[in-house]
Amino acid sequence: MGKFIVNGGRELKGEISVSGSKNCALPILFSLIAVKSVTKLYNLPKIKDVELALKILVDFGAKIIYNIDSVIIDTTELEFMMPNTEYVSQIRASTYLLGACLCRFGYAYNQPFGGCNFSNRPIDYHLMAFSALGAEISGDKITLDKSPAGDIYLPNPSVGATVNSVIASLNTEMCVRIFGYAKEPHVVGLIDFLNGAGADISITDEALVISGGTQKNSSYKIIPDMIEAGTYSVLSLMFGGNIKVTGADAEHLGSFFHALTKSGASIQRLGNDITVSGKITRPLRITTGPYPSFPTDLQPQFVPLMAMFLGGQITETVFEDRFGYLSEFEKLGLYYQRSGSTANIFPSKLKNGTTDIPDLRAGAALVMSALRSEGESVLNNSFRVIRGYSDFVNKLRGLGADITEVN
Ligand code: UD1
Repeated sequence: MGKFIVNGGRELKGEISVSGSKNCALPILFSLIAVKSVTKLYNLPKIKDVELALKILVDFGAKIIYNIDSVIIDTTELEFMMPNTEYVSQIRASTYLLGACLCRFGYAYNQPFGGCNFSNRPIDYHLMAFSALGAEISGDKITLDKSPAGDIYLPNPSVGATVNSVIASLNTEMCVRIFGYAKEPHVVGLIDFLNGAGADISITDEALVISGGTQKNSSYKIIPDMIEAGTYSVLSLMFGGNIKVTGADAEHLGSFFHALTKSGASIQRLGNDITVSGKITRPLRITTGPYPSFPTDLQPQFVPLMAMFLGGQITETVFEDRFGYLSEFEKLGLYYQRSGSTANIFPSKLKNGTTDIPDLRAGAALVMSALRSEGESVLNNSFRVIRGYSDFVNKLRGLGADITEVN
């Protein structure tokens, strides 16, 4: 569905802005089902996933007012609705409907939740957490008809399971503690929003502690998207440091900057603006992991960079098989070797060609490669990229890129 036509080889330069974080906006939007109030959100990214989340909220009875700089969402009067399978099958964050519906209605249904299928993405931790709160699971139906309470021990710091545990616990009349929680900035963003909306959630080194609270109307500005900022920072390096990434939060990108500077790149930070330039003098090596380690959502974007310079190595520890996209790069001339959760990327002259975009982040990486390669490239399934990158084509055109999306 949809394709990008890229005429590559043009010089890119100028400024590119970072929008609101997809992975902060989506949990907040779904949490509104649990938060019975009127919320004003600033900096919502203009992406398909947000459009779908808003459609799902409207199906539940939410009233939405779109302003130029904000969106007001009234969730004071909702009724349970079986979420539209067409919508939930397209968007991974719809798993948050489980925690949100348990909190608001006392029941929820496990559905075929979609999103990027770069790996097997089970929700067993989510279900285990709901059970720890006192929920009963029978087939696809999950019921939580008492005040949630107890300790949740997550086997891995899963973003999704942490978010769902927090949202499901908002009504607690006692206390819920979540051990082994994910510390990503977007998880902290969700908690900041919820506390602003009257929740009582504290963050300790050991656990998230939820002690209920009283819901109230609130407003919140979505934090900058760290993955978008990282993506365009890599692009900056691929184009000789002539691109300034504006409106980022560089504090969220420590491990990413470290990987680049270790290989010779230099990072200029001025307030919320980032420019990455310099010469790569050593092969790039990255190992993904939960925050504050290197984000898995930035590993595919390193592939065209590694290929352009001295090659490198990617070790993926979050989604061990997140390398399926490399076969699409192979069509563009990439040499690589994969062994289990590690991929060695060899210096390669990437060329133009036709590829199929397999998922959101790999899609951005393939576009970056096409922008560098002389001639026309056709990248099928552009919808996978516009799901998660706000105003993608226009932002790149602003740098001088020749890219068009056609249906
Ligand atoms: C979220 C992000 C995604 C990012 C990922 C890791 C959203 C909408 N998506 O995905 O962009 O790539 O965090 O930063 O925010 N796991 C289980 N069982 C579970 C849950 C997770 O085994 O019930 C495993 C996963 O297979 C994976 C690891 O835990 O190996 C981490 O996954 P998780 O952090 O939950 O990723 P998502 O929340 O799906």
